Amino acid sequence: MLSKTYSATCFGIDAHLMEIEVDVANGLPQVAIVGLPDQAVKESKERVRSALKNSGFSLAPKKITVNLAPADIKKEGPAFDLPIALGILAASGYLKQENLREFLFVGELALDGSLREIKGALPIANLARRKNLSLILPENNAKEAGLVEDISAFSASSLKEVIGWINGETILKKVTSTWDHLEPNEIQKEECDFSEVKGQFHAKRAAEIAASGGHNLLLIGPPGAGKTMIAKRLPTILPELARNEYLEIAKIYSVAGLLSNGAPHALRRPFRAPHHTTSPIGLVGGGSIPRPGEITLAHRGVLFLDEFPEFRRDAIEALRGPIEEGWILISRAKMNFIFPAQFLTVCAMNPCPCGYLTSPTRACCCTMSQIQKYHHKISGPILDRIDLHVEIPAIQYKELASHLAEESSEEIRKRVIEARQIQLERFSGRHEKTNTLMSPREIRKYCTPNEAGKKLLEQAMKELELSARGYHKILKISRTIADLAKSETLREEHIAEAIQYRTLDRNWFG
Ligand SMILES: Nc1ncnc2c1ncn2[C@@H]1O[C@H](COP(=O)(O)OP(=O)(O)OP(=O)(O)O)[C@@H](O)[C@H]1O
Ligand SMILES: [Mg+2]
Ligand SMILES: [Zn+2]
Repeated sequence: MLSKTYSATCFGIDAHLMEIEVDVANGLPQVAIVGLPDQAVKESKERVRSALKNSGFSLAPKKITVNLAPADIKKEGPAFDLPIALGILAASGYLKQENLREFLFVGELALDGSLREIKGALPIANLARRKNLSLILPENNAKEAGLVEDISAFSASSLKEVIGWINGETILKKVTSTWDHLEPNEIQKEECDFSEVKGQFHAKRAAEIAASGGHNLLLIGPPGAGKTMIAKRLPTILPELARNEYLEIAKIYSVAGLLSNGAPHALRRPFRAPHHTTSPIGLVGGGSIPRPGEITLAHRGVLFLDEFPEFRRDAIEALRGPIEEGWILISRAKMNFIFPAQFLTVCAMNPCPCGYLTSPTRACCCTMSQIQKYHHKISGPILDRIDLHVEIPAIQYKELASHLAEESSEEIRKRVIEARQIQLERFSGRHEKTNTLMSPREIRKYCTPNEAGKKLLEQAMKELELSARGYHKILKISRTIADLAKSETLREEHIAEAIQYRTLDRNWFG
C-alpha cells in the first residue's frame, strides 16, 4: 500500500514543502529512504522503528520504501521522523490516509516515541499557513509557530499522542499566538547599561552617532580601556525592534536552531562576537547546504570584531560587500540564497601588538616594523569602509573611582530614537534606511554644508588626503551629528566633529 504525507525542510532561511511517500510491499524485510537524504535522515529509520515499537506498533516484516520528494533538494536533519512514522502506519493500514491529507507534520522522534524540537519551525509555520495546511509540531516549537498570525497548528509531545489524535481519540494542544504573551519590558530588558562605563565621553559620543545613523565604528585603545564594554552596550541604545524586524531575526535564529524552546530568547537585538579565527564561511555564511554566517546572525544588531587585525584577511575581505549592501548572496548550482545582513559593525584593536603605543604611562615595546605590519593587516579598502575611527585612551583612576552618575542607556537611546525619527521622515518611512546608506545622489540632496562648513571640508580634504569615499563619509556622519542636534543645516561644528572621526586615515595608515 502507498501513503503520502506532507512535511517541510529548510533550505537557506526558507522552508520548502516536501511530500513523503511510503510504500509497504512484500519482499525482503528492510527500510530504504531515497531522495537525497543526509546522514541524520538516513538514521531516521532506526529512530522510527524504535519509536513505533515503544508506541505499541511492531512493523510487519516487509519491504518499506520511503521517498522524499522533490528529489533534487538536499534533505537534512531529523524533522522527517514524525511524517515517516505516520506514513509507514498509513501504508500498513493502521491509519486512514485521508486523515493525514490536510496536515503538515514535522518532528524528531526519540527512541521512546516522544517528540523532540526541530530547527526552522518558524519558516515552516509560515509555509504551512501559505499552503493552507494545518501544522503538527513538537511542543517545544509551539511558541515559534505562534508568531505566525492566524496559524492553524497543534503541538504534541509524543508520537502516540499524534496517532490518537488522528484517530479521533485524543486532543492536541492548539498553538496560540505568542505575541500576546510577550511583555514589552521583556523585549528590552538588558543585562548591561552604558551607565556602567565611566568617562570615555569621546567613545560614548561616537557610539551614539553610530547607533543613530547606522555608522560602523573602530575603537582603538590600550588593553582595559573599555572597548569591549562599549561594544557590548551598543545594542542597548538602539531603538526597540519593530515587529517585522523581530520576525526577521526570529526566522534566522529558528533556522539556525538558536531559538530553543521559544521565541523570547531572540527578542533583543543580536550581539555577535565571532572569534578572530572564524573562517570566511563562518563569518558570511555558506556550505553545501548554505547556512547563515555570523553577519546574518547579527542582522539588525551588532557584529563585534574584537582584535580586528588578527582576523583572517580573506574573512575581512569577505565582509566588504555585505557591509555596504546589507545582504549577502550565496550562489549554488541550482539556487541562489540571499541572507539578510544589516548590522552595525564595531571593530576593536590595540594601537600596536603590545597595546601601549598611545599610553602616556606605559612604554610600548614594539619595533617600528612590528607596528607597521600590525597596521597593514587591515587593508585600506576595509578601513575606508569604516565610518568612525575612535581612539580611546586608558581610563584614569580618578574617572574610574568617581561616583558621578553616568548617563544611562535609556537616556542615550531617547536621543538615538529622535535622530532616527528624522531619518525616517527623510527617507519616506523606510525603517531600515539610515544616513550611512545614503547614495551619492542623496548625499548631494541632504548633505550640503553651509559656507563655513564647505571651507573647513575643503581644507580637511587637502590635509588628510581623503578618498572620495572618505569625503562622502564625512558628509554622512555630519548629517547624523546635525540630526542629533536637530539642525536642518550642516554647520561648521558638525563637519568639524565628523572630521575628527577620520583623522586616522592620515596618522596611522596613510
Ligand atoms: N570606562 C570604564 N568604566 C568602568 N570600567 C571600566 C572602564 N574601562 C574598563 N573598565 C573595566 O575594565 C574591564 C576591561 O574592560 P574591557 O574589556 O572593555 O577592555 P578592552 O578595552 O576591551 O581591553 P582589551 O584590549 O584587553 O580587550 C571591564 O570589564 C571593566 O571592569
Ligand atoms: Mg576587549
Ligand atoms: Zn607596542
